[in-house]
Amino acid sequence: MESDRLKGMNIYLVGMMGSGKTTIGKCLASKIEYRFFDTDLLIEKVTQSSINEIFAQEGEATFRQLETQILEQLCAYTRAVIATGGGIVLKPKNWSYLRHGLVIWLNSPVEILYQRLITNKTRPLLKEGNLLDKLTNLTQQRRAFYAQADLVIDTASEQNPEIIANSILEQIPTVLK
Ligand code: S3P
Repeated sequence: MESDRLKGMNIYLVGMMGSGKTTIGKCLASKIEYRFFDTDLLIEKVTQSSINEIFAQEGEATFRQLETQILEQLCAYTRAVIATGGGIVLKPKNWSYLRHGLVIWLNSPVEILYQRLITNKTRPLLKEGNLLDKLTNLTQQRRAFYAQADLVIDTASEQNPEIIANSILEQIPTVLK
């Protein structure tokens, strides 16, 4: 796909924790000469705290407010690929910002998420309890929200970020107006 066809429209990657939004997003951005942003990293930069610290000290509601503020600010940009936090799809207000661009859901099987997150301690929502159960429940609760994306990319059979980014680029023209 020629990146001109996007006319500068931002690309928002949504999906569960561990679905590869950051890795694939960086790859995609470099292919189409877009800037790359990650809402979690921007929140950490602005607050000078880790996501874990924000959840522990301020609570999830404060984190969600920061997330919405960052998303609102990113709307001012063009030519950006934006990896979002897994819970961004839950708030209707966030969709008013996401809809400025093209929203792509990276849909990964729970087993793959589990393998990727088993040793990772940076997700406050996965701290306690059984990881597989948590991921299964969250995916179930959120599926309908993710499904509001313009494009769904199933990453079950392919895990190479480069190949997934190419596949996204192939499929974008099918959803451009
Ligand atoms: C969250 C996902 C995380 C981060 C926060 C909450 C969620 O981002 O925003 O821990 O609610 O799914 P990633 O999806 O980048 O892990």
